[in-house]
Amino acid sequence: MRRVYFDNNATTPLLPEVFAAMRPYFSEQFGNASSIHHHGQETRAAVENARESVAALLGCRASEIVFTSGGTEADNLALSGLARSGDHIISSTVEHHAVLNSCKHLESLGCEVTDVPVDGRGLVDPDDVRRALRPHTRLISIMMANNETGVVQPVEEIGRIAAEADVYFHTDAVQAAGKILVDVKQIGCDLLSISGHKLHAPQGVGALYVRKGTVLQPLFFGGSHERSRRAGTENVAGIVGLGKAAEMAKQALDQGDLAQMAEMRDRLEQKLLAEVEAVGVNGYGAPRVPNTTNLYFDFIEGEALVIALDLKGLAVSTGAACSSGAIEPSHVLTAMGLRPDRARASLRFSLGKQNTPEEVEFALGLVPQTVTRLRELSPLWPKSAVSR
Ligand SMILES: Cc1ncc(COP(=O)(O)O)c(C=O)c1O
Repeated sequence: MRRVYFDNNATTPLLPEVFAAMRPYFSEQFGNASSIHHHGQETRAAVENARESVAALLGCRASEIVFTSGGTEADNLALSGLARSGDHIISSTVEHHAVLNSCKHLESLGCEVTDVPVDGRGLVDPDDVRRALRPHTRLISIMMANNETGVVQPVEEIGRIAAEADVYFHTDAVQAAGKILVDVKQIGCDLLSISGHKLHAPQGVGALYVRKGTVLQPLFFGGSHERSRRAGTENVAGIVGLGKAAEMAKQALDQGDLAQMAEMRDRLEQKLLAEVEAVGVNGYGAPRVPNTTNLYFDFIEGEALVIALDLKGLAVSTGAACSSGAIEPSHVLTAMGLRPDRARASLRFSLGKQNTPEEVEFALGLVPQTVTRLRELSPLWPKSAVSR
């Protein structure tokens, strides 16, 4: 059976070049990067090369990159590394659970957290961030691109507000890296998280940019790896994969390759808007990363549509992978003001480098008819009111 994968915000397939770069580090190049002999030096060089590539993608120095086990750890290290009991943190209502639940944990330790709202397009108003500042605000953590809608926040403005107030600024750029330009200097952030598996590197590796001079309390205690910011023997193969993927992502951005992905996403979105009734885009009118569209199909259970499409070979998602199967509607969509039934009727289509225009046509051949069939089965579908 033919399978088309449009769930690249959940995870992306490894690019063949990334796999090829990693392969030797599973076999002949097995050394511990902390060993001083030949085997260790070989893997140390590979880790440092990868650090250079990740730094080049983010516009920072190699020494400012800390490798982690992924985006979740990078977010945790940023927040728990900086905040102490009595500190105030500003975040938003649409953050990934890695940030939301880190904030909850810090609240339990005596921090205060203010979650600024978003508007109907999913955007934070920088003035709300400014108004939320308090004398004891230590950190602002607001994501760059949302995992469910692809909406891109005004991080540069927020960076300026943070700098003026002399407050640290962390941004979760897990869904932005490799899709739009991510330049830490342009953003003006002190900390920035990325994750390998969202940009065609393997799962289980990520990185945190830590601006020079920023002192973080580590999450783990052990050896002095990663300049004492992250103890533990390096995941060399994963780091090499992240380095290769970062190099390829930078090349693609420099060459303007993402325009083709935006074209595919726009065609998918526009055709569905034209061909399906009672449908709309969540995040419409906001700046968005070029690979994501999140659409509501009124009078449908999103989970039912995901399953029906999967049976026909199309993989999409109702939102964050970790909340799939949960009964609660997406916190991102409800924060944008969607009614719970509309939030539950929403689906995310997210493209990756491997997807082709022909796969978009495959999806366009499936989605409208599947929506129609499910609606025909729904007692809620107002059959008499459908002619537009
Ligand atoms: C915005 C965002 N932040 C953080 C994460 C967590 O990254 P990881 O899966 O590497 O732990 C994700 C993953 O879905 C994400 O989308």
